[in-house]
Amino acid sequence: MGQPTVEMSVCQAILARRSVRNYSAREVDRSTVPMLLEAAVCAPTALHEEPWAFVIIQDKTMLRRLSDRAKPLVEAEVRSAGLKRTGHGLDIFSSPDFNIFYDAGTLIVIGAISMGSLAVADCWLAAENLMLAACAMGLGTCVIGSALPALNIAEVKSELGLPEKFSAIAPIIVGYPSGETAPSSRKAPVILAHLPRQELAGSSSRQAEAGEYHADW
Ligand SMILES: Cc1cc2nc3c(=O)[nH]c(=O)nc-3n(C[C@H](O)[C@H](O)[C@H](O)COP(=O)(O)O)c2cc1C
Repeated sequence: MGQPTVEMSVCQAILARRSVRNYSAREVDRSTVPMLLEAAVCAPTALHEEPWAFVIIQDKTMLRRLSDRAKPLVEAEVRSAGLKRTGHGLDIFSSPDFNIFYDAGTLIVIGAISMGSLAVADCWLAAENLMLAACAMGLGTCVIGSALPALNIAEVKSELGLPEKFSAIAPIIVGYPSGETAPSSRKAPVILAHLPRQELAGSSSRQAEAGEYHADW
């Protein structure tokens, strides 16, 4: 199968993007990756530093090993922070069957070699660009924050052939979705101020302004 083609406008992609956790067996072609990276590096970058560097893994066995490495680290981190995970429980990380990468065949890790104070922001902006571009091409993505503890230990970096000074920031799985993923809900934007205030006849300015924040895309 060849490269996917872009099928949506950016606004359509923003609305259509979901965290996809079910993937079909169809593999992401190696030649598709540069298109995603090109979208990533078009992100805004503080002081034009472009601090990002990418690690691409397209090997399910390697990803399974990385998942097995990551699970106990996530469990330990969450327990030591005394945090309760929302959504899926902590127990899932002790299940031998659970793959933190949901059996996706491609992982793209966005990280930085030199960590300026805004490198993390740059990498997350690049991550969103990549995910929207992937969505527009019919690909699914999901950020896998639970891979970070494993990706940032020296032993794993050395196994993957990465420089020790590389910091993984945004690990993203990519693949062809299997079935539909329902959208997750969002709270309405909390507007603390929109100045100057707008006075409209017959309604309070707060009511009028609240009405403005339902966009018809
Ligand atoms: C920083 C970050 C870390 C995340 N880590 C994980 C993760 O480890 N595993 C996972 O299944 N989803 C992860 N997600 C995806 C979120 O669960 C998801 O974005 C959220 O539930 C909203 O759903 P949506 O992306 O479909 O709108 C992460 C998202 C972000 C932004």
